[in-house]
Amino acid sequence: ANIMVSGLQRFFNPGAELVLSCKSGYSPVSGPRTIVCSDRGEWTKTRLMCIPKNCPYPDPLDNGDIYYEDTVYQSTVNYTCNEGYILHGASTIVCQANGTWSASLPECKPVMCDLPPIPEFGKIIFDNSISGNTTKYGIRVTYECRPPYALVGNKRGECTASGSWTEPPECQMVSCPPPPPIENGYMSISLQTEFDYMETVKYGCNGNYVIDGGYEIVCQETGEWSLQPACMGKIRGLIKGRILYKGRKIWIEDLNSKVLHKEIVSVYCMDKVRKCGYAVPAQCLNGQLKIPECFEGKAYFMTTQENQR
Ligand SMILES: *[C@@H]1O[C@H](CO)[C@@H](O)[C@H](O)[C@H]1NC(C)=O
Ligand SMILES: *[C@@H]1O[C@H](CO)[C@@H](O)[C@H](O)[C@H]1NC(C)=O
Ligand SMILES: *[C@@H]1O[C@H](CO)[C@@H](O)[C@H](O)[C@H]1NC(C)=O
Repeated sequence: ANIMVSGLQRFFNPGAELVLSCKSGYSPVSGPRTIVCSDRGEWTKTRLMCIPKNCPYPDPLDNGDIYYEDTVYQSTVNYTCNEGYILHGASTIVCQANGTWSASLPECKPVMCDLPPIPEFGKIIFDNSISGNTTKYGIRVTYECRPPYALVGNKRGECTASGSWTEPPECQMVSCPPPPPIENGYMSISLQTEFDYMETVKYGCNGNYVIDGGYEIVCQETGEWSLQPACMGKIRGLIKGRILYKGRKIWIEDLNSKVLHKEIVSVYCMDKVRKCGYAVPAQCLNGQLKIPECFEGKAYFMTTQENQR
């Protein structure tokens, strides 16, 4: 296989010699290179073998993939680029008869985008510094609008594989209506009828009330206010017996502060089998302390809203 002979005749006389060689792309391995026509009309044997030449292993491709099964003569190597990259050079190379590849390694170069358009009343912040008038595939940006303009749309943008930018946002004028007043509290506003995006209003609570939520609300980009706080009543808890409050087991008479909204007071219930008390937590919510059902003692408490219960 893959051996070539030097002569072209159909018949040879005894004693005739033929020189064998390998076909182009194949190299000889072992065995005599000549065969002789013997007196009996047979050619002498040869153990010459011709094996295909090898090309060097192809180098890996940055930002792409390489496909091959073998690197011998006539093998092919195929190249592809990852999404967002374009192949520069040959996409297929072949191992030639002299053991070299038909072309050098191609390159995968990124798709380029023009600079993204800057929204009116806004700006663009690039994640990485850029140079020139184009950016590479995968570059990301953050859009910002100057208050009182609010950003409507995608806050983030990206140079896509098709060489264009994702949909940019718009900077739109946003205003909020006057915020509603809160019960048992007050707010820090003048007689404004409209509030700009990012404008804030502060709240406070009257004497015996505590604030639930933040002290400040902000006009959001949706034209709505952030969550409004509420003013909650405090209670002065009174239960006969012992309580667990702020990690201390005390007699109720010794509780000389008010229990505030959302605080926990534990009362003691009786475990009848073991004949011992165990603490059960109760939370003060808006001036109410729900005494656990297992509590058998006398429970009453005062709030600032109702005098006694
Ligand atoms: C290379 O691509 C050609 C044409 O698409 C295909 O026939 C061949 O099988 C591929 N070779 C490899 C090693 O993937
Ligand atoms: C190998 O063969 C190719 C194709 O015939 C030729 O272009 C190239 O110059 C050869 N390379 C060497 C190193 O002989
Ligand atoms: C970028 O584009 C502007 C206007 O199109 C041009 O004046 C400038 O020279 C370009 N800069 C570079 C670095 O290509």
